[in-house]
Amino acid sequence: MVRNILDVLDLSVEEIDELIALACDIINDPKAYSERCRGKKLATLFFEPSTRTRLSFEAAMYELGGNVLGFSEAQSSSAAKGESVADTARTVSCYADIIAMRHPKEGAPRVAAAHSSVPVINAGDGGHNHPTQTLTDLLTIYREKGRLNDLTVGFCGDLKFGRTVHSLINALSRYTGIRIILISPTELKLPSYVKNDVLKKNGIPYVQTTELESVMPELDILYMTRVQRERFFNEEDYLRLKDSYILDPKKLVNAKKDLCIMHPLPRVNEISTAIDSDPRACYFKQVLNGKYIRMALMLRLLEEADR
Ligand code: NCD
Repeated sequence: MVRNILDVLDLSVEEIDELIALACDIINDPKAYSERCRGKKLATLFFEPSTRTRLSFEAAMYELGGNVLGFSEAQSSSAAKGESVADTARTVSCYADIIAMRHPKEGAPRVAAAHSSVPVINAGDGGHNHPTQTLTDLLTIYREKGRLNDLTVGFCGDLKFGRTVHSLINALSRYTGIRIILISPTELKLPSYVKNDVLKKNGIPYVQTTELESVMPELDILYMTRVQRERFFNEEDYLRLKDSYILDPKKLVNAKKDLCIMHPLPRVNEISTAIDSDPRACYFKQVLNGKYIRMALMLRLLEEADR
């Protein structure tokens, strides 16, 4: 059976728990998994730039013993000649066993999945969704905190266009005891469809503020994000808003001793490099976790496809 992962909600909470357990097992004994995808091919179809997501998918497949093909920009694919996403997906599914796709248009991976004969994983579509970053974030929270419930999670920065924020809020809404604090400039507030359809609908308590320091003492997790320049309609607005929040050691004075500071990366200015050596900085651990959770996800999807 072909199974696609287009949204984090395509996985049940139990399936996410299983993926986290599998990722932890891979971390403990990577050699036991080094041949599990021998003979399999991953295609990475990236119509938008990426460092971590594409390379971690590729590294994950190599560490499972498989191979990788693909492209890293639309210009080097037939999209530049006007080929549709549907035709590209149909073509690539003749060559590969699984596809990871990033696209600037929201919903493009869903179109690809409808025309592909192999599993399609959404590796980020516009400002919409980014399920594998969310799995990365959940694995990181689990490894740092030992739980995915009873947490106060602050999201700070561009909550309007940040797809990793939308996906993680969706995922966290299924756990108990979650409180969300939304910290952003007024222009970059969380879209109302996420507030209404996710937070309000699931009865998740949340607070909206423009002030980071005043809420800092309450946070178990601080999820920083960059202002998404490529999704702005004009450069002036971006320049005005880009440095709204810069996390530096002074701002952490009243933070919990076991705060977990996360960021999907790339960072621009939002976190001072002086924070990197603070034991609460978890963003480079997140990078490593991203490779392991993608190994777990691809392994499961390929096993299901072979059944
Ligand atoms: C994020 C993305 O692409 O949405 N990065 C990532 O996948 N690690 C965040 C971002 O680009 O700001």
